[in-house]
Amino acid sequence: MKMILLLGTVLLAASPAAAMAPGAAEPDAAADLQAGAQLYFKACGLCHDDSAHMLLDTGPPLFGVVGRRVGSVEGFTYSPALQKGYRRGHKWSEKRLDKFLSGPQHVYTGTDMPMMFNDPKVRHNLIAYLKTLKDE
Ligand code: HEC
Repeated sequence: MKMILLLGTVLLAASPAAAMAPGAAEPDAAADLQAGAQLYFKACGLCHDDSAHMLLDTGPPLFGVVGRRVGSVEGFTYSPALQKGYRRGHKWSEKRLDKFLSGPQHVYTGTDMPMMFNDPKVRHNLIAYLKTLKDE
């Protein structure tokens, strides 16, 4: 139920962008937040909660992930690959997230994170949604 409410909020917030002509050549900077949110619920929500509170054992919650230290959610058992990123003090910058989502194994070899996307625009939309997962 909470998830549905949240999605509603996101859709509302995204409506100006969604009103732009679909598929028309628009500047790359305009991320499609609605598409990003939809993809999140389809492809990430199963394993990752998007609130700060719920810890699923399938994946660490992604609330506040942009800018967060790699492998830093307490109570989640990360792979040695992400633990190494943590020890090195890596942060999830947008750039690192983009690389990770294009091929997790190329960034942290041995990670348990299975999802990847070849299309940069898809990743851009997804990261735009991840950026909304924070306290106002
Ligand atoms: C089948 C389950 C599963 C799905 C689906 C999944 N992930 Fe993950 N994800 C994981 C696991 C497990 C980890 C922890 C990896 C590790 O410890 O190596 C992880 C880790 C991550 C991390 C690192 C988080 C941190 O705290 O350092 C990010 C970012 C991430 N996933 C993003 C995503 C996004 C975005 C999606 C949707 C496109 C997604 N994941 C879909 C299982 C999943």
